[in-house]
Amino acid sequence: MTPEDLITKAQEARTNSYSPYSGFKVGAALLCSDGRLYLGTNIENASYGLAVCAERVALFKAVSDGVGDFKAIAISGDKEGFLYPCGACLQVIAEFGPQIDVIVSDEKSNYIKHNIVELLPKAFLFK
Ligand code: THU
Repeated sequence: MTPEDLITKAQEARTNSYSPYSGFKVGAALLCSDGRLYLGTNIENASYGLAVCAERVALFKAVSDGVGDFKAIAISGDKEGFLYPCGACLQVIAEFGPQIDVIVSDEKSNYIKHNIVELLPKAFLFK
């Protein structure tokens, strides 16, 4: 699966976003080492602080299915410019790194591929 394919999947995932409070739809597509794909969207709540980002939803879906080896995660949001994961999501991605590529995209489907270690070089890890 190419980075372009992964971004397309993240854009598709975005349509399921539950974001009535921010109005900001985000989608993530997580590529596993065995080729499986997990999608995630942001899920908000009337208790605002309970919102969960699309990236973590995709990761948690995969991990709860017993998958723990990942190649890349692509992120797409409906704003201008490149959407980068928040610090909490970087920390969760780093837990399953260091090989994971984080592919950020903009509204024109341009993308930049970073490695997770580049984005969070000093992650807190027990390994
Ligand atoms: N959000 C994500 O899902 N991923 C990001 O990378 C940044 C922020 C969500 C959380 C919240 O639902 C909305 O965007 C506004 O912060």
